[in-house]
Amino acid sequence: MGSLVAVATRINWLRQQIGHHNRLYHQLDEPAIEDSTYDELFAELVALEAEHPELQSDDSPTRRVGYTPRKDFSEVQHQLPMLSLQNILLEEDFYQFTQRSKKGLTVDKLELCVEPKLDGLAISLVYIEGRLVLAATRGDGQQGEDVTHSVQTIASVPLTLAMPGGTIPPERLEVRGEIVMSVSGFARLNKSLQEQGKKTFANPRNAAAGSVRQLDSRITARRPLFFYAYALADCAPPQPHASHSSAIDWLDELGFSTNPLRCISTQDTQVVDAYQRMLAQREQLDYLIDGVVIKLNSLAQQQALGFIARAPRWAVAWKFPPSQVQTRLLAVEFQVGRTGAITPVARLEPVQLDGVRVQNASLHNMDEIQRLGIQIGDQVTLQRAGDVIPQIVSANPAAADAAPSILREPIKLPDVCPVCGSPLQRPQGQVVWRCSGRNLCPAQLSQAIQHFCSRRAMDIEGLGAQWIERLVRQQLLGSLTDIYQLEKHREELLAFAGVGELMLANLFAAIEKSKHTTLARLLYALGIEGVGGVIAELLAANFPVLDDLLQADIQALEQIDGIGPVLAAQIHAYFADSANRKQVEGLIVHGVHWDQPSVVKDAALAGMVLVITGSFERSRDELATRARELGAKVTTSVSKNTTHLLAGENPGSKLAKAQALGVRVIDFSEFTQLEG
Ligand code: IVH
Repeated sequence: MGSLVAVATRINWLRQQIGHHNRLYHQLDEPAIEDSTYDELFAELVALEAEHPELQSDDSPTRRVGYTPRKDFSEVQHQLPMLSLQNILLEEDFYQFTQRSKKGLTVDKLELCVEPKLDGLAISLVYIEGRLVLAATRGDGQQGEDVTHSVQTIASVPLTLAMPGGTIPPERLEVRGEIVMSVSGFARLNKSLQEQGKKTFANPRNAAAGSVRQLDSRITARRPLFFYAYALADCAPPQPHASHSSAIDWLDELGFSTNPLRCISTQDTQVVDAYQRMLAQREQLDYLIDGVVIKLNSLAQQQALGFIARAPRWAVAWKFPPSQVQTRLLAVEFQVGRTGAITPVARLEPVQLDGVRVQNASLHNMDEIQRLGIQIGDQVTLQRAGDVIPQIVSANPAAADAAPSILREPIKLPDVCPVCGSPLQRPQGQVVWRCSGRNLCPAQLSQAIQHFCSRRAMDIEGLGAQWIERLVRQQLLGSLTDIYQLEKHREELLAFAGVGELMLANLFAAIEKSKHTTLARLLYALGIEGVGGVIAELLAANFPVLDDLLQADIQALEQIDGIGPVLAAQIHAYFADSANRKQVEGLIVHGVHWDQPSVVKDAALAGMVLVITGSFERSRDELATRARELGAKVTTSVSKNTTHLLAGENPGSKLAKAQALGVRVIDFSEFTQLEG
């Protein structure tokens, strides 16, 4: 481009355009241009600013949005741990808190700050000499993730501090607060995700967290997020604030948003009033709050009380009861799960609950229906607590009496599977009814195949739920092994609407690729009841040779640390069933394979059946892994099959048992010698 003036003009125009379209998109929800056009404007601005660093400006939209997606998040160590709060539920608990604090401080009056407990994502912001240099998630409290690139796109996060009266910014300032998503913005976001056929978020908190944990900050930039500062964690040099409230007021002056509902109380009853007031207000707010946080206002008093474990003694979170709404039960449908479990699902008159539109709820099983005494047509109370799926907590049949036009109707378990018509069975001692149709039931089969193809299982990309359902319906898939014979049906597949050569080629390539797997993945993919990813890993580690697992008796399975008697029996029953064995064989015949543990035979510890007890320089898990690598089988209890006991300090009863059974006992140094 020509002269510097021309470049500067263009840059200004681009900044103004991008700002304008950001506003249309965010605040008015009326985008006027395509995303791709927006991206082009943005890319041009990035390029021009890179060519002309002298024209960079702090308020350029590029300062907020990093243009290139990141590959991963790096870990950051918090200089001061990010703590949690002790939760209380009752008014009495609150009085106890103030009593305890007064006693600890030997005072008879307290000044307390009451703030809404924001239901979002905790974030720590670090400013060096007035500039934002780091935004980190809470993580485990000690270590979080660096999310600076995405957090800096949030308009309410100042990139530079607005120092009042031109004062010098602190060398280092650390501010803590919460990122929340507006409830209305959340509804719009989910609607648009749904329209694009993408996965929606369960609630505004998950949506906020998911939006911040984006590697591509352009996505974060387009999400309706807001940051409220609620704590001044660190300031160097220190600021002369005597109270939490004055520190927060100062943050407000520096350009942070602080919550307007916060207030100060000098009497317990005022705090209770504030709690009631915020509880009543919660439905009207456009962000979620799930309680109030009560903090001692005096910083000296905070310091005097200090911390217990991971929470301060000078603050508590007084949680609200879970939100509840009334609605009506319109019908009950019975769904068939992957293992045939029949689950009654309530169809409800749609209602809003914590910003989420709810029209279904699980009723779990027939016993639950009986416990609730619920019938179709009843008015029901629905609640959700935190992340959990909404649940029906009670039925209110009296409401039906008051509206006699509504007919109540008992909920009946169907006689046969609603999908395939097979008889239902209820194994002894269980509350769940199951369809007996197994692979003959299209519902069970589709879900079993979906699970088999999923990412953590055989990872067959391109064979999604809709495809699978269609292939099952057309009887092109009747078992797991059929996946590996799909190529035979090439012509029929090509006749499907929307299926082309390229798509099929990709699908077949993905199926072919999945044949080379690991034993753990295959075991997980089989969908054995109770065998999730972790158990599958355990099984594969303990039985690196599949045949040994197929032969294993319940006792041998139970010996594995992490597998109890019930699960051991389930796994055993699965492999004892000839249809299941045939299925596994079929998969292998059709090419499913994995690297066999070549080391086992001539490995240093081959044939050793080892139990590890007591404490060592290395963790027991680490030792067990090492022993397995060298071909040993590691179990948790000493039996006549045990060949060696590795005993550390304070070995306990296992040592006595090993000695009684004549098992060879070795110590750590002997073990390291055997290790070679
Ligand atoms: S103060 C040492 N104030 O609650 C105390 N936390 O359960 C630090 N939270 O992880 C927290 N609103 O994410 C504080 N007004 C508020 C809050 C708040 C929400 C969250 C915060 C924290 C969690 C602790």
